[in-house]
Amino acid sequence: MHDRTREPARLAVLASGGGSNLQALIDAHQRGDLPCPIVLVISNHADAGALSRAAHHGIAAHYVSRKTDPDPSARILELLREHRVDVVVLAGWLSLIEPSLIAAFRGRIVNIHPAPLPRFGGKGMYGLHVHRAVLAAGVASTGPTIHLVDERYDEGQPLAHVEVPVEPGDTPETLQQRVLRAEHELYWRVLRDQFGAIDPVA
Ligand code: GAR
Repeated sequence: MHDRTREPARLAVLASGGGSNLQALIDAHQRGDLPCPIVLVISNHADAGALSRAAHHGIAAHYVSRKTDPDPSARILELLREHRVDVVVLAGWLSLIEPSLIAAFRGRIVNIHPAPLPRFGGKGMYGLHVHRAVLAAGVASTGPTIHLVDERYDEGQPLAHVEVPVEPGDTPETLQQRVLRAEHELYWRVLRDQFGAIDPVA
């Protein structure tokens, strides 16, 4: 039995690129829609927009890669512990998550993918590559999938998916923009529902 109050999870966002999903999460927290604070942002690209967005909002922002650290995963783990992170949020993180990190945060690493899984997932399927594959398949709809991350690439437990129509004349870029808008609406809701109140770590 424990009588301690459940608290919103402290989030770290790992992002390799522009960070529009990160921005949507920051905005949701500032509006009061997402109770979980974003306490740390990590990127494996020094010039990632995600890092400047984080810095702009006073969030600890770190560049970690093989160029900065002989063992980037160990450094990431160290930062996660230093900032007392409960949940790791992948938002356009285009690098492998090492098994040691998955084991340390089992059930507490979440990823967003810009298309249905497993059909449009797997190695090499990120960003515009995904939208090109969706258009090549000639499907009528696509849309983001949010799932827990485990050792099986893009195959962890699904948490949510919303449908986004493919419109006639779509290019990978127009489709990407429509899907991104859906991602921005979906991610904070899933994080709020899953991790808005968690048991504090003993
Ligand atoms: C998003 O569309 C996200 O779903 C995708 O990268 C983009 C990042 O955009 N992730 C993957 O493709 C992972 N396989 P953002 O930097 O503007 O948030």
